[in-house]
Amino acid sequence: MNALFTPVMAGKLRLQHRVVMAPTTRMRTDKGGVPGDLMVEYYRQRTSLGGLLIAEATAISPFANAYADAPGIFNPAQQAGWKRVVDAVHEQGGQIVLQLWHPGRQSLPELSEGQAPVAPSALIAQDTYGMVKNEDGTYEGKLFPEPRALEEREIVGIIAAFGLAAKRAKAAGFDGVELHAANGYLPEQFLLDGSNLRRDKWGGSLANRTRFLLQVVTALIDVWGAGRVAVRISPSGIYGDMRDSDPASTFCYLAEKLNDSALAYLHIIEPRIVGPEDRDSGYYAEPIASHQLRAFYHGTIIAAGGFKPEAAEQMLAAKDADLIAFGRLFTANPDLPVRIQYGYPLTPYQRETFFGGNGHGYIDFPTWQP
Ligand SMILES: Cc1cc2nc3c(=O)[nH]c(=O)nc-3n(C[C@H](O)[C@H](O)[C@H](O)COP(=O)(O)O)c2cc1C
Repeated sequence: MNALFTPVMAGKLRLQHRVVMAPTTRMRTDKGGVPGDLMVEYYRQRTSLGGLLIAEATAISPFANAYADAPGIFNPAQQAGWKRVVDAVHEQGGQIVLQLWHPGRQSLPELSEGQAPVAPSALIAQDTYGMVKNEDGTYEGKLFPEPRALEEREIVGIIAAFGLAAKRAKAAGFDGVELHAANGYLPEQFLLDGSNLRRDKWGGSLANRTRFLLQVVTALIDVWGAGRVAVRISPSGIYGDMRDSDPASTFCYLAEKLNDSALAYLHIIEPRIVGPEDRDSGYYAEPIASHQLRAFYHGTIIAAGGFKPEAAEQMLAAKDADLIAFGRLFTANPDLPVRIQYGYPLTPYQRETFFGGNGHGYIDFPTWQP
């Protein structure tokens, strides 16, 4: 394993290797979406050899959340909790960016101050579930109700809320922020014509459908400057009941537009993956991967989705991406970069403990002892 262990710049992030921890929602915050001791330990354990961690999807607003015990970054307590996480990662010599998240139509009123979900258009995400917590501490899947179409002044308000969250992330000491524009959440709901039927300047043409995403990026860069803001997309993803009449044109257009933004990196989920799962059947006839978008986007690319170490090396050798993010493997292998570098065996992940619970299946995976 060589190519993964060469240094690289991702915008202004100077990284010692190319094994990135993908953002993974684990539903382990303390009360009120505040990162606590469990999360500090989880991220500390996963920092090795001077690499990059992408912290899990984090709500930018109290009015839009999909998963109980998912973190937020919209109040001082959450900011202080995240600072503890960031400090632990920095002490280990790693870097960490925060994934900023507005789930839009994938929100549950129970987790969103009673507010109905909002979206570009009043189109429900069919067959898609969030997760609430019962009084006995168990979690339960819940279908998302029909969303309300956003008024224009609300759209502007959400863009401003992204900016405020970016300020809090900066104050917490993060090394940058990643906009979650993948997996059927609000920025992607604006982007795809299957979820955006608007006829104002926020819908219709490609320029209009990309407007929300690009304006959020601008708001984040206003706070962070160049080279510390990133975007995650899932161009072949159908998670969240997503569809587009011409995904290749949509995502190539977006990729090209993002050249103007001086991002840290563009993070692309490869076609093998739908949300947190492997895909067994495709929706799009011609899936779009990093390989295609490379021709349109000229900055640093992180590819994610179904990678084993060998495939990651091949991806770098083919120059289809610059770094590789690992999700599920990182859950069970806190020292994943070390294991890959030295060829140590990998521990299989435990799906049962992915979402919610205590330290079991979260911070009790050992590092490899040769
Ligand atoms: C438990 C779990 C939680 C996830 N949470 C997030 C998330 O918060 N944000 C995100 O962009 N992707 C999330 N994903 C998707 C992963 O980042 C990644 O794209 C996916 O797991 C495929 O990569 P892998 O094959 O290396 O696991 C999650 C996946 C899993 C398994």
